[in-house]
Amino acid sequence: MKVAVSILTADFNNLEAEIKSLHESDYIHLDVMDGHFVPNISFGKAVLKNIKNITNVPLDTHLMITNPYDYIEDFVSIGSKYITIHIEANKVLETLEKIKSYNVKTGLSLRPKTDIKLLNPYLKDIDLVLVMTVEPGFGGQSFMIEQMKKVEYLYEMRKKHNYKYVIEIDGGVNKETIKYAKGVDIVVSGSYILNQKDRSKAIKSLK
Ligand code: DX5
Ligand code: ZN
Repeated sequence: MKVAVSILTADFNNLEAEIKSLHESDYIHLDVMDGHFVPNISFGKAVLKNIKNITNVPLDTHLMITNPYDYIEDFVSIGSKYITIHIEANKVLETLEKIKSYNVKTGLSLRPKTDIKLLNPYLKDIDLVLVMTVEPGFGGQSFMIEQMKKVEYLYEMRKKHNYKYVIEIDGGVNKETIKYAKGVDIVVSGSYILNQKDRSKAIKSLK
């Protein structure tokens, strides 16, 4: 089980130390929010532009923004390994093509109330599917177990059609809820990890 730590609830007065404390995580999950697609504003290129100089941990960028097409260059330039957009955003196909044109891996995510079958046309090409297990916008929310039906669907579709995407879940993942993560390749965890002093121990507890 790979772990991607979300820095949404990090102490931004000490961001460098926070990032360095996550050296055992498989990915650093960057929750970019525009205050329009979700009712919260987080951070953008200005904050993240030097993150690649202080960590070797690959960056898993999650764009919770309405017009991701206009910002792809920003998140390519910070060194994202994955750039994930939402199926509910604008210009999905063109944006996925644009991400691919920069040789960055593509991810597609969906809100809890969005039907997983909306992703069907994209599954053969996509590198990652991010199933939200909370309503996007904030860290520290409770795990929505019914969303795991989408993981089962994705797992079956990948097996049946020999697709290549990895399956990631995002929101409310902690020592208790990790047991529901069957069929999942990467879990995103934010507050559970950042609320603990020993981050390496917290990350290992999920692996
Ligand atoms: C929510 C974000 C999640 C969230 C995870 O919109 O996409 O990545 O920050 O944080 P926790 O683990 O605290 O739910
Ligand atoms: Zn996220």
